[in-house]
Parts: sequence; C-alpha cells; structure tokens
Amino acid sequence: MAVYPIHRGRRIRSSKQVRSLVAETRLDTGDFIYPLFITHERHVQKEIPSMPGCYQESIDYAVADAQEAKEIGIPAVILFGIPKAKDAAGSDASSETGVVQEAIREIKNKVKDIVVVADLCMCEYTSHGHCGIVEGGEVDNDRTLEYLARIAVAQAKAGVDIVAPSGMMDGMVQAIRNALDKNGFVGMPIMSYSSKYASSFYGPFRDAVESSPQFGDRRSYQMDYRNAREAVGEAMTDAEEGADIVMVKPALSYLDVIYRVRQATNLPVAAYSVSGEYSMIKAASRLGWLDEKSAMMEVLYSIKRAGADMIVTYFAKQAAKELRSMVAG
Ligand code: PBG
Repeated sequence: MAVYPIHRGRRIRSSKQVRSLVAETRLDTGDFIYPLFITHERHVQKEIPSMPGCYQESIDYAVADAQEAKEIGIPAVILFGIPKAKDAAGSDASSETGVVQEAIREIKNKVKDIVVVADLCMCEYTSHGHCGIVEGGEVDNDRTLEYLARIAVAQAKAGVDIVAPSGMMDGMVQAIRNALDKNGFVGMPIMSYSSKYASSFYGPFRDAVESSPQFGDRRSYQMDYRNAREAVGEAMTDAEEGADIVMVKPALSYLDVIYRVRQATNLPVAAYSVSGEYSMIKAASRLGWLDEKSAMMEVLYSIKRAGADMIVTYFAKQAAKELRSMVAG
C-alpha cells in the first residue's frame, strides 16, 4: 500500500458527496424494530421517566403508535406487556385474553402491513420478576420450557408474525419450535435473543415494565459480560434448534459480539440497543453534554457496521425522521 505523500487518506473525505460514495455502511428505516410497552389499563399514555419519549400505553394508543411507525417506513414493532395481575406462573403471558394477545389482535386488525413481533418471556408477568418457574429459589429451566411453549402458541393464535424468546433458557428455541409446529404454525419465525447478557443497561426497561427481580439477579441464566466466545456458542446452539434470526443484546457494549456472531452464522443477526443505551444519550443531551441526534446516529451506524442486519431501538421513530431529513437535505 502506498504511503504519504502518494497516499492521502483525505482525498476521499473531501466532500459530503464523495463521502457518500465511499461509505461502507448504510442505515435504513427498514432496519428498525420499534418497541411498544402495552399496559392493560384503558386509554392511557404515560411517559416513562427514565426513557423520555417512550410510553406505557394502552392498546388504543399502541395502535396509533404502530400506525405512525408504519407510515414513516418502520417495518416492525415488538411488544412488551404490563399485565393487570402477576402470579408465580406468569399466567397472563399465555392467556388468550392476556394483554399482549389482545394487543397483537388489535394491531394486526387495524394496522396494515406491519410486522408484529412479540417478546416471549415470563419476567413481566411473574410476581417474583424472574424469567421462568422458580423452584427452591432458582429458575427451573426444564419446567419453564413448557410454559414458554404455551406462550408461543398463545401469541401465534392471536396472530403474531414473529415470536422472540428472551429468557435465556437452555432448549427454549427447540421447545417453542416443536410446540408451534404441533399446533400448525410451521411458518412462524423465531427470533431468538440468543446471546443476551446480564446487563445494568436494562435498568430503565425494568422500570418501564415493572419487572425487576424480587430476589437475586439474572446471572444464573443471562450471560457474563466477560465472555464473547460463549456468545457465539449460544447463537450456534439456537441456530441448530431452529432459530430463524439470532440476536445480540445489549448492542453498544457488545459490538465485538455482534461482529463475531455475524462471522459465525449466515442467519440474519438482530441487535437490541437497550433502554440504558437510549437513556444515556437522552440524559447527556438534556444536560447539554452531547448532541442527541448525532450521538444517536453514530451509535446506530456503529451497530450496523459491526454486522447487525436489524436493530431494535427506542430511537426508531426519531432516527427514521432524521434519515428522511438527511435525504431531503
Ligand atoms: C426480558 C427482557 C429484558 C429486556 C427486554 N426483554 C431484560 C431483562 O429485564 O432482563 C430489556 C430491554 C431493554 O432494556 O431495553 N424479557
């Protein structure tokens, strides 16, 4: 490779147009999945204090939110539920009249051509806040699988387009695939949160859905942030069990993991830019310490650059508008 003065790296950075030609990474509104927090209450929209611009909202507001997302080009929403009642078995998650099942039916009915993804986990629905059935102070992996299978079928019956298991139980993808197939849903894709870390960046989300564990933490099932090879193993296992899309979560502290998973599989890779990643940018920009729009775009581009095909992000709408004005400007 030529060196200075033959080579001058600046030649390809000289104008916006040239920079566009040589840009290695594209970000598109079509990459985004927009999360919605759905409450069982009627006709309310409450802003989440630690996540400005995000709401706990009743189904009617969620329908309008999904409609607006679709109109600006966002292809998909992912639903989280805040049920009326929580119990040890997280019953609302698999009930035909559970909050997410109701929301799936309404959104599919009223918003044309939007992909509805449902988060498939028990933590928002259990009284103890853990992602499965608790036995002797611990989450019982194998008993939890039956419950996850039941939730998947309930979501499928309600008309969901993609199920997204996020509980990090061993064998969850296989159990869900079998149950879906047995119930006639062979065409239902599974987006597995394959490599999900135990992370402090989930803090604001747990406020949002009131799902903090009532005892202990999630480190016996979510991954240790010191490990990256293990994350590749988790993605490969889920792929073998039948996952159609694998996910890395969180995104920003885990770009190396996104990169490695991208190299290891030909499946589509999703990245979940979690609540804490959103809140950090919001908070710093409110203090005048960061420019919100440019920080948002830099982070989203870096997640694409690392190798993600799609991004779950609370910035979806804001970034979609920004991408549109970049084209117009
Ligand atoms: C678990 C789940 C979590 C998130 C989404 N689904 C995390 C957890 O509490 O372990 C976090 C999302 C976020 O922080 O944005 N069902």
